Amino acid sequence: MNLMQLINKRCSVRNYSDTPVEKEKIEYLLEAARLAPSATNAQPWKFLLITSPEQLGKVYSCYPREWIKNAPACIIIYVDHAQSWKRASDGKDHADIDAAIAAEHICLAAAEQDLGSCWVCNFNTELCRELFPQNETLEPVILIPFGYPKDPEVFTNTPKKRKKLDEIIERY
Ligand SMILES: Cc1cc2nc3c(=O)[nH]c(=O)nc-3n(C[C@H](O)[C@H](O)[C@H](O)COP(=O)(O)O)c2cc1C
Repeated sequence: MNLMQLINKRCSVRNYSDTPVEKEKIEYLLEAARLAPSATNAQPWKFLLITSPEQLGKVYSCYPREWIKNAPACIIIYVDHAQSWKRASDGKDHADIDAAIAAEHICLAAAEQDLGSCWVCNFNTELCRELFPQNETLEPVILIPFGYPKDPEVFTNTPKKRKKLDEIIERY
């Protein structure tokens, strides 16, 4: 599969089977995250891997949607603003950009391994800090639930709803 095929395959999966995810595949996703680029190579992130039902229940509390209950695994991506690069000209903190790249590395690696995943940012970050106190000083920015999709055809039959190229590209 080439990169464009993989990009087309990745889609947000919100329905998971209860097939457990192999340890090697989980490590593959984490390695994809580790290798992500970051501003000044600061790598201002931490990844909390969650697979135990008890801890997954806490993830559900932070994002109470029925579909997330079936995800057999989740990665919480945290950033450390003390480590991230701030642009000198305007002070812009690049932590979220760094986290986003790592997140998409994870999602693409998941799709390559026939695993579904979904970005989730609309979660209760304060509750997340309370329920996972070991990372209290870090900011949780993205949840990535993942697992085998209930319907593997989701990879081929999910339409890509995107603006047309000429709506978003300016050429000089
Ligand atoms: C930054 C970001 C935040 C997102 N947050 C959520 C979310 O909280 N809940 C959710 O169900 N999907 C979330 N999504 C998934 C988007 O809805 C999805 O990527 C978009 O509709 C395009 O569909 P696709 O991923 O299937 O290509 C998020 C995606 C991104 C990139």
